[in-house]
Amino acid sequence: MMKIMRHRWQVRFVHWVTALSIFILFFTGFGQMPVYKRYFVDQLPGLGWSSNYLITLNIHYYAAMALIFTSVYYLLYLFLTKETDVLPRKGDFKESLLIFLSMAGLAQEPENDKYLAEQRMAFAVTAFSILGLIVTGLIKVLKNLPETSIPLSLSFWATQIHNLLTVILLLSVVIHLLAFLIKDNRPLFSSMFTGQIPLDYARHRHALWIKRMENLDL
Ligand code: HEM
Repeated sequence: MMKIMRHRWQVRFVHWVTALSIFILFFTGFGQMPVYKRYFVDQLPGLGWSSNYLITLNIHYYAAMALIFTSVYYLLYLFLTKETDVLPRKGDFKESLLIFLSMAGLAQEPENDKYLAEQRMAFAVTAFSILGLIVTGLIKVLKNLPETSIPLSLSFWATQIHNLLTVILLLSVVIHLLAFLIKDNRPLFSSMFTGQIPLDYARHRHALWIKRMENLDL
């Protein structure tokens, strides 16, 4: 079966380090509300540390550093390679509706580029949530430093926005994972591991992308 390269190793590296850091940030972030003691999570084998505020805070900081690193790396990657197919475009909302209607057999699916319109919109939500989480997280770090003081209202709003964006990011990650339950999306799953997808599938589901590459003679 002929295959085509979809994700270079740099994208896969960023994806998996980002995913891992986000899962650690979720786990340690929720641990700062004392839920793991209350619900006996810290009684589970190997998780005794999970209700220790200082330990979860330190791990949260390290995972946040990894996330900041991959965010800067990915921004530079997009800027230098100009591989901006994942960025949202005008008309994506309408096109996403068409894709959903086509799943129910009520419309014809539009020809897709490298990413579906809904993937591009989901990327924008994810990227803005991560950016907002980094900015509000840095404000919270400033608040925690003993030698600095910031206005109470700034600390209050940074915390509210940080919490809200956590929920939005959590929902977008859940939707991202649920998308692979849809049969038409499943061949994409292995691409984040191997980098490749079957050419026949790409021709059928991402026709615009393939036409564009053939025109560029890639
Ligand atoms: C176990 C967890 C995860 C799995 C199995 C997974 C799987 C995948 C797969 C297969 C793709 C490729 C889709 C395609 O080729 O169109 C992808 C893309 C992507 N995923 Fe995930 N993912 C996971 C977690 C996450 C998390 C936590 C984030 C949050 C930031 C995320 C953000 C993205 C983004 C932004 C893309 C597009 C990447 C690009 O090409 O620039 N993923 N994911």
